[in-house]
Amino acid sequence: MFPGAGLRRFTAPVRKEGGVLAEAGELAKPGQDQGSAPHILVVDDNLANLKFVRSQLSGVYKISLAKSGEQCLAMGAKSVPDLILLDIEMPDMDGFETMERLKGHDLLNRVPVIYLTANRDPETEVRALESGAVDFVTKPFEKDILRHRISLHVSFNHYQQQLEDTVKELEDSMVASFSGLIECRDGNTGGHVVRTRDYVALLGQLLLERGLFPEELNQKELSLITRAAPLHDIGKIGVSDAILLKQGKLNDDEYEQMKMHTVIGAGIIDKMYKRAPTQHYLNYAKKIAESHHEKWNGGGYPSGLSGTDIPLCSRIMAVADVYDALVEDRIYRPALPHDVAMNIMKEEKGKLFDPVLADVFCENHLMFKRH
Ligand SMILES: [Fe+2]
Repeated sequence: MFPGAGLRRFTAPVRKEGGVLAEAGELAKPGQDQGSAPHILVVDDNLANLKFVRSQLSGVYKISLAKSGEQCLAMGAKSVPDLILLDIEMPDMDGFETMERLKGHDLLNRVPVIYLTANRDPETEVRALESGAVDFVTKPFEKDILRHRISLHVSFNHYQQQLEDTVKELEDSMVASFSGLIECRDGNTGGHVVRTRDYVALLGQLLLERGLFPEELNQKELSLITRAAPLHDIGKIGVSDAILLKQGKLNDDEYEQMKMHTVIGAGIIDKMYKRAPTQHYLNYAKKIAESHHEKWNGGGYPSGLSGTDIPLCSRIMAVADVYDALVEDRIYRPALPHDVAMNIMKEEKGKLFDPVLADVFCENHLMFKRH
């Protein structure tokens, strides 16, 4: 079956002459009707070539023209195209280097690229395809063939993205189901998983806006950490009901068993990650499950890690987890008012919490307050 069969069909239009034109470095001119036509970014150092390609594709696609690899990257970042037609032989940054930069670009690494070149050398074609291009077309080209190839790759990429989105939705609903099962068992009042995920996302965003932890955190990593957060207590599946639902204080032996939910959780997620190694959020989920009860001062469990030896994702989770535990009803005590909880959160700066995270949380505490 063709990938994406059964999903909403998307077909790049193949029409004849007339339509949208744009000069190099610009999108189509204001006022021109671009409709939902796929956006094609054409990259060539030769202006005559650019204009010729534009004349062959106009009326079918929304066309942008870039005279260099640098311009391609800058324009693509401003308006992500549906496909890039890339020349190989260009001064300064050639097509291969441009491709390498595209593949390393957060926004552009999934845009299909077709090399459009006068170079007919088979070795170049092999190198081009190995570099990550979806196709290789030599000049002079037959207009309708190029249009159909573009249409094919734009459609295929669209199907692929829809399929990936669907798989992600299924995975997220599976994670939510797992987490919901744990929540049913551990005596919390419900909603802890969703609330802590939202606190993680908010605290992470505040860190990003302040340029903190640039080596460890960017928007993409935060998205993975946020997806991973709901699995933090999955190891409680291996802890008995008698302990999870005990009304009074746990004795030493029970507490040791409760602490094991971190190790059990990391083990469960490790197996999931080995079966699905492309699901990088599971790498964060494993770290979070294992070390969300570690303390900045080394007094936590299971390993007694301290400071930055505790992964950042787990330090963020710890703030979210503790705040939620304080302001919501627990099986052993009623919810604390926000102000009382905040006194405890401040008190734990540098003890339980990373001081930087504690400061950002406390300075923005009203954003976290629910009631
Ligand atoms: Fe936990």
